[in-house]
Amino acid sequence: MLRPILIHPDPRLKKVCDPVTDITADIARLAQDMLDTMYDAPGVGLAAPQVGVTKRLLVMDCTKAPEPPRPMVLINPRITWASDDLARYEEGCLSIPEQYAEVQRPARVRVAWTALDGTGQEEEFDGLWSTCVQHEIDHLDGKLFIDYLGPLKRQMITRKMEKLKRERARGQA
Ligand code: NI
Repeated sequence: MLRPILIHPDPRLKKVCDPVTDITADIARLAQDMLDTMYDAPGVGLAAPQVGVTKRLLVMDCTKAPEPPRPMVLINPRITWASDDLARYEEGCLSIPEQYAEVQRPARVRVAWTALDGTGQEEEFDGLWSTCVQHEIDHLDGKLFIDYLGPLKRQMITRKMEKLKRERARGQA
């Protein structure tokens, strides 16, 4: 089932999310809905607060066809190591549609998380995967990629989003 994606600015996108304490049927359904919503958008990552659930859960899949898809669900993810070398990627966000900017982050990170079956996982990510997982974990701490930009650029994007939301509310977009 597709869930509506919140558009910035929204107070739910600014919250530090709560850990998932129990992997219930609701959490499993949320994860599946988030994957459906992400693939439909389309996007390569989606964090629970973006669908209005302020819990520490994210989904991602940075594979490119003809590679087989790799839908990942990360519960309570945390970065356990980050490389000293940095990488710049042009980032976007499903909560900030059609706005892109370069952000500098560690080129590689190791991340530990709990999988849907309750098992502990740890993996090192690089390239787009590394950028994506860091961007999504930021969402769980109420941080958006525009928070890395200067105040003028950030305000400009925020005003565009406010206008977009007004237009959508009036049914024009
Ligand atoms: Ni995002």
